[in-house]
Amino acid sequence: MRYINIALSKGRLADYAVSLFSKSGIDCSEINEKSRKLIFTDEVNNIKFFLVKPSDVPTYVEYGAADIGIVGRDTLLEEGRNLYEVLNLDFGACRMVVAGPKELEGKLDSITNKRVATKYPNVAREYFEHTKRESIEIIKLNGSVELAPLVGLSEVIVDIVESGRTLKDNGLVVLETIADISARMVVNRVSMKMENKRIGALIEGIRKQIEKDSDEK
Ligand code: PRP
Repeated sequence: MRYINIALSKGRLADYAVSLFSKSGIDCSEINEKSRKLIFTDEVNNIKFFLVKPSDVPTYVEYGAADIGIVGRDTLLEEGRNLYEVLNLDFGACRMVVAGPKELEGKLDSITNKRVATKYPNVAREYFEHTKRESIEIIKLNGSVELAPLVGLSEVIVDIVESGRTLKDNGLVVLETIADISARMVVNRVSMKMENKRIGALIEGIRKQIEKDSDEK
C-alpha cells in the first residue's frame, strides 16, 4: 500500500496538528523527538508527514508531492492554489487586518496611494485594488511588519493579528478586518480521486476528533 503524504506547516500549526492526529489514532511519536529530520513515518497506518515552511505547503499539495496539507487560511489566500479545502481545523485562529497608527482611525480612505507593508502582497492587492477599488503601493516584507509604519516605510500594514499584543506593544491599532483565519486541511485534487477511501476515512477521523474536542471545551 502506498503512503499517504501529509505536509505540516512547521511551527505553531504543526504542534496543534500533531496533537490532533495523535488523538485520532495516528502515530506521530517520531515527530515529537527533537531532531531536524523533515520526514516522519507512521508505518502502521502508512502515513508520512513532511515538515514544510508554511507558505510552501500549498505548493507541495498542488503538485501532489503531498496528498494532504495542514495550513493557515492566510497562506491559502496568499498562494491562491488549486486545491480542495476539506476541513476547518478550528485552531490557529486569528484575523487578517489592515493596521496602522491610531491617528488613521476612520481616515484610511482619505489617504491616496498609500504604502502598504506586508508579508501578504496578493491578499493586500486583492483587498485594496479589487474589493475597495483603490490603488496602493505594496511593500513586500518578510517579517516584523509592524516596524514599517513606525519608521516611515509605509502608512499601514496588512498582517495577521492573534492576541493583538504585537500591535499594542508597538502603538498600532486594527483599522479594518479583511478575513477570519484558522488552520485548514487541504487535499490534492488527483489524490482525492485516486485515494478517495483512505483520505475520506482520514478526514472523517479528524472531523470526529475536532467535534469531540469542541464538546469537551
Ligand atoms: C505574526 C504576525 C504578527 C504577530 C501577531 O508574526 O505577523 O506580527 O504574529 O501575533 P499577536 O497578535 O499575537 O501579537 P510572527 O510571530 O509569525 O513573526 P514575523 O513577524 O517574524 O513574521
